[in-house]
Amino acid sequence: MARKQLVTGGAGFIGANYVRQALRKTQDAFVVLDNLTYAGDLRRLEPHLSNSDRLIFVKGDICDKNLLNSLFVEHEIDTVIHFAAEAHVDRSISGPEVFVQTNVNGTVALLSAAKEHWESRKDKRFIHVSTDEVYGTLELNDPPFTESNPYKPNSPYASSKASADLFVRAWVETYKFPAIITNCSNNYGPWQFPEKLLPLMIQNALTGKNLPVYGDGKQIRDWIHVEDHCSAILCVLEKGKLGETYLIGGRQERYNIDIVNLISRYVGDYLDEDLSELITYIKDRPGHDRRYAVDCSKIERELGWKPQHTFEDDLPKYINWIIDNQEWTVSVQDKKYEDYYNQHYQV
Ligand code: NAD
Ligand code: DAU
Repeated sequence: MARKQLVTGGAGFIGANYVRQALRKTQDAFVVLDNLTYAGDLRRLEPHLSNSDRLIFVKGDICDKNLLNSLFVEHEIDTVIHFAAEAHVDRSISGPEVFVQTNVNGTVALLSAAKEHWESRKDKRFIHVSTDEVYGTLELNDPPFTESNPYKPNSPYASSKASADLFVRAWVETYKFPAIITNCSNNYGPWQFPEKLLPLMIQNALTGKNLPVYGDGKQIRDWIHVEDHCSAILCVLEKGKLGETYLIGGRQERYNIDIVNLISRYVGDYLDEDLSELITYIKDRPGHDRRYAVDCSKIERELGWKPQHTFEDDLPKYINWIIDNQEWTVSVQDKKYEDYYNQHYQV
C-alpha cells in the first residue's frame, strides 16, 4: 500500500535527493516540510514539484507544533523521514544556538506530534536521519565505528544530533514509538550546498579562488554518494527493524588533502591550467575530528543494502555537474553566504 510520507528538510541536499529517488522507486505520496533556511532551495525538487501530483511542499518550521498537528491530520501522515537540521559544523562553532533549536527542540516537537497522532503503531515509521559524527573521532588504527560505539560528540553540531538521537531512543523505550535511527558518513553529490568540502573546493578551483585546507589536511572522512545514502534510507524504511540503529557508509576513507589534490588536478585539466598553487593551508577547525570511518556491515548483512558508487568514478561526474549547474551554484552563494564566507575564511 502507498505510504503518506512527511519529509522534513526535503528542500535540502539529501532530503531533495531522497524525494527524487523515492518518487521514482515508490508509489508513495510526499509532503515536504521545510522552512527554507539559507541551505534550502526548491529548485532541487524541480521539475517534480511542478509536475507530480504525489508531491506537495509546505513552507514551515519543524518547531511549529500547530503546523505539525495540522499536517498529520490533513495528510494522514503514516511515515516521517526526518532530515531537517542545521548541518554545517563550522556554522555550529560560531553560532550553536540555532543547532539546539532546530536539531534538538525541532526533533522533540516532531516526535511529540507523531506520537500524538499515531495511536496505533501499525504501519507507522519514523526514520531519524543522523550522522556518524555522534561517535566522535577515531585514531588512524582504530576500527571503524559500529552501532555499539559510545556516543562522544565533539562539535556543537554533533552534540545536537547526538542529543536528538537520544530523544528518539527515549521515545522508542518509553512509548514504544516506531522509530529507526540511521547514522551516515560524509555525503557528496548533486545539489550539495557549496560550503561543504567538495563543492566548495570545486567551485573555488573553477573560479580561481584559494583552496582552504584546514590544519595539515590529514583528516580522514568516509565518503558516500548521496544516491547510496538515499537508497539505504529507503531500504531501512522497507525492511528495517523498529527501535534499531543502522550505520550507513561508503567504505571509502580518504584524506582531505588527497581529495583537494584530485580536485585541483581534474579542474586544472578542464581549465588547462596548473591550479596546485591555489592550495592554501589555513588555521585548523577548533576541535577538528581527525577521522571518521563507518563499518556498515549490519545494514549490509541484515537488510541486504550495499553502496553502488565509487568515489574516483564519481568525482569527475560531480565536477561536471557543478560545471553544468553554475547558475544554481553561483546563485546560492548570495550576499548572506558571501558574508559568512568572508567572515569564516577572513578574506
Ligand atoms: P542541508 O543543510 O542541505 O538541508 C537541511 C534542510 O533542512 C534545508 O532545506 C533547511 O532549509 C531545512 N531546515 C533547517 N531548519 C529547519 C527547520 N527548523 N524547519 C524546517 N526545515 C528546516 O543538510 P543535508 O546535508 O541535506 O543534511 C540532511 C540531514 O542529514 C541532516 O539531519 C544531517 O544531520 C544529516 N546528515 C548529513 C550528512 C552530510 O554529509 N551532509 C551526513 C550524515 C547525516
Ligand atoms: O560525517 C557526516 C557529516 O559530514 C555530516 O553529519 C555533516 O552534516 C556534514 O557537514 C559533514 O561534516 P564534515 O565536517 O565532515 O564536512 P565538511 O564538508 O565541512 O568538511 C569535511 C572535511 O574537510 C573536514 O575534515 C573539514 C575539511 N575542510 C572543510 C572545509 C569546508 C577543509 O579542510 N576546508 C574547508 O574549507
